[in-house]
Amino acid sequence: MAADSRRVKSVEESIRDTDEPEHRLKKNLSGLDLAVFGVGVIIGTGIFVLTGVVARNQAGPAVAVSFVVAGVVCGLAALCYAEFASTVPVAGSAYTFSYATFGEFVAWIIGWDLVLELALGAATVAVGWSGYLNQLLDDVGLALPTSIAGETASFNVPAIVIVLAMTAVLVLGIKLSSRVTAVIVAIKLAVVLLVIVVGAFYLVADNYSPFVPPAENAADGGESWLDTPLISVLTGFSQGTFGWGGVLAGAAIVFFAFIGFDIVATAAEETRNPARDLPRGIIGSLAICTLLYVAVSLVVVGMQNYTELSESAPLAGAFAANGLTFFSSIISLGALAGLTSVVMILMLGQSRVLFAMSRDALLPRSIGTVHPRYGTPYKITIGTGIVVAVLAGLVPLSELAELVNIGTLFAFFLVSIGVWILRRTRPELPRSFRVPLVPLLPIVSALASLWLMANLPTETWLRFLVWMAVGVVMYFVYGRQRSRFATGSARAGTGKRL
Ligand code: ALA
Repeated sequence: MAADSRRVKSVEESIRDTDEPEHRLKKNLSGLDLAVFGVGVIIGTGIFVLTGVVARNQAGPAVAVSFVVAGVVCGLAALCYAEFASTVPVAGSAYTFSYATFGEFVAWIIGWDLVLELALGAATVAVGWSGYLNQLLDDVGLALPTSIAGETASFNVPAIVIVLAMTAVLVLGIKLSSRVTAVIVAIKLAVVLLVIVVGAFYLVADNYSPFVPPAENAADGGESWLDTPLISVLTGFSQGTFGWGGVLAGAAIVFFAFIGFDIVATAAEETRNPARDLPRGIIGSLAICTLLYVAVSLVVVGMQNYTELSESAPLAGAFAANGLTFFSSIISLGALAGLTSVVMILMLGQSRVLFAMSRDALLPRSIGTVHPRYGTPYKITIGTGIVVAVLAGLVPLSELAELVNIGTLFAFFLVSIGVWILRRTRPELPRSFRVPLVPLLPIVSALASLWLMANLPTETWLRFLVWMAVGVVMYFVYGRQRSRFATGSARAGTGKRL
């Protein structure tokens, strides 16, 4: 065990840990449940909000191409996640995979990094939810004051309420959560299909021209270097606004719309037949969403000129601009329902990562116990809910949303490299799903993730580096001394509480 200075936790040990009585999750989910979970968390703020922002500011009608680029990067990573999840079907996703390949330090770092994707992501979407709610209330003349609701509130009451309500659902059990999700996903898919089918009758050819608006010099728009993509700052090209550079910068932002397929892997331990169902759930949900996104974005920029799209509710706005107010309200309602499941599943992912970390004693073991009746890690779930509620309620998040992307892309990077490493270090492990063309495909996947990261603003990079530096300090102050390796509890089948 500790003989390895990297403190790598073997795959067998990870799987054995899932049988500890006090840390055992119920195996309730089928392949369909997973795909529903996937779609439930993937379709959200990205398509309902960011389509408008990116079309107006970065890509014009070519926002559809931004979606394709981001979808391809995610598709590569999805293959890597699918192989890992079919080999190590244990809660914790990228965290657990990293433990089995890179060892404890990287595992901790990735656990820390995933807070950006999951907790910060949930808080960001909860704020978006509050915005849609207030817009609907406004439609019926009951809008709440903007100081307590909407995107710019200083004490965001609806965002706090939705987070706490979803926390309660998560504590009550994952099967219940998956039923709630199934209903929401059905509504969400119906609304997305409605946008595509009805919107197709209102397309105007002129709106597609120019498809890729000519590049603008970012400096002309008064943009500081902090707002410019890192790659532009490093290479001296100004390329964040329109032109093909804008399409790529847009891809790094609409990437948010795809976040979530990886969370299917965090539910690995709660899946009845993980080897078969996880790859299907991960790749299936991603494929469905990519097709829908490309179709929706093509329709929306065809219905309304990209310069006029709404930045807060572009789908509903494009319908309203065509006089289709009835559909516009339906879309807003669908978005509201849709964002609900995104908040819930991001928090589910966060609680499962923290659960896995506590089982490894990188966090206190006592917080990871499972509720005797509901079979869920209730303490961690409630703790996650409180932190997300505070973030969503009090912190101005619009600035931080890109941090969610960079955090997730970093996890994709490590998972991609990890697949290759595990193939070399443990070639004999049973893998019911195998990435083709190893090592080429994992390397391309890792580089593609890095490249999208480089297309994010420099300021996002600085925030990310600060967050990760804090994580490194936390590891040496806490995790390293307390972990299962430090205390010598990493023995085969101990199953003991510390
Ligand atoms: N993919 C999720 C969304 O777009 C996080 O809201």
